[in-house]
Amino acid sequence: MLNIFKNIGLKYPIIQGGMAVRVSTAPLAGAVACAGGIGIIAATGMTVDELRLEIREARRIANNGTIGVNVMFAVRNFAELVKTALQEKVDLVVSGAGFSRDIFSWGKEAGIPILTIVSTSRLARIAEKYGAAAVVAEGFEAGGHLGTELSTAEIVPEIKSAVKIPVIAAGGITCESDIAEMMSLGADGVQMATRFVLSKECTVADSFKTHYLSAREEDVVIIKSPVGLPGRAIRNVFSEALARGESPDISCDDCLKVCSREYCILEALENSRLGHIDQGVVFSGQNVFKIKEILSVKEIFKSLTGAFSIKAN
Ligand SMILES: Cc1cc2nc3c(=O)[nH]c(=O)nc-3n(C[C@H](O)[C@H](O)[C@H](O)COP(=O)(O)O)c2cc1C
Repeated sequence: MLNIFKNIGLKYPIIQGGMAVRVSTAPLAGAVACAGGIGIIAATGMTVDELRLEIREARRIANNGTIGVNVMFAVRNFAELVKTALQEKVDLVVSGAGFSRDIFSWGKEAGIPILTIVSTSRLARIAEKYGAAAVVAEGFEAGGHLGTELSTAEIVPEIKSAVKIPVIAAGGITCESDIAEMMSLGADGVQMATRFVLSKECTVADSFKTHYLSAREEDVVIIKSPVGLPGRAIRNVFSEALARGESPDISCDDCLKVCSREYCILEALENSRLGHIDQGVVFSGQNVFKIKEILSVKEIFKSLTGAFSIKAN
């Protein structure tokens, strides 16, 4: 198996994608780590103290499993959040939605691997040059902010041939056969997010999960995020208003480095996570409609790990 996974003693090369705001927190990340994958806490939208508590709680649940932290480069407290994760000695840090050069020297100093989310072979090469331990190749089927209009199956082989470091496929992967397809395209592992929202351990409001379960293929839409990137989400009252060019009132606390201020994306994500679905953005991957039931993380792993030589029990 590849180094990053071998070095951290991982059972399965499955990363649970970081999901802000507070969609992937300690209960989910800890359960994924316990099941033999990598559990990721999304730090975006948290304070440093909140993140510290989440990491400690995830570690408690994880039973020595692998815990990482995901931080969006776009947030103003990016450096503080990354440095907190490193001080807490997480197993890895993943950065997305923008590119930080500094993070690699901070990771090197702390002896903790840094993974970068990329959508092009050009950015993958730059990440490798700066010292990324692996890249997450995220295609357009992914939930949340998007960096490409190409599919995961299109970018994985291209990025794989551009770099020597491990390539982790992300975007639209919901089942064992999707994992097998990505491995056959050269991926060294996978990152999955939407599948793990529909887990018992994910702490979002029940109405958030119901919105996922009732989504049809045509309900998954692209919205405009004030970050300046398109975002993939499930259609709702909020997304329809945005599509008509209406912007909700916001209370801005200047949390992003770059923001159009059309609305507050962090507030919109927090609203939906709390169950105020009509007042928020429900980020989701393109293939949400393929997932029909809420399972425990252990059951999800059991359904996925036939793609690997070691089966989950
Ligand atoms: C609700 C939600 C929130 C997300 N938040 C983040 C985030 O904070 N940072 C990030 O790098 N990616 C984020 N993503 C992207 C995921 O980590 C992951 O790479 C992507 O969704 C994979 O595609 P899938 O959902 O089809 O499995 C988010 C995705 C979802 C569904």
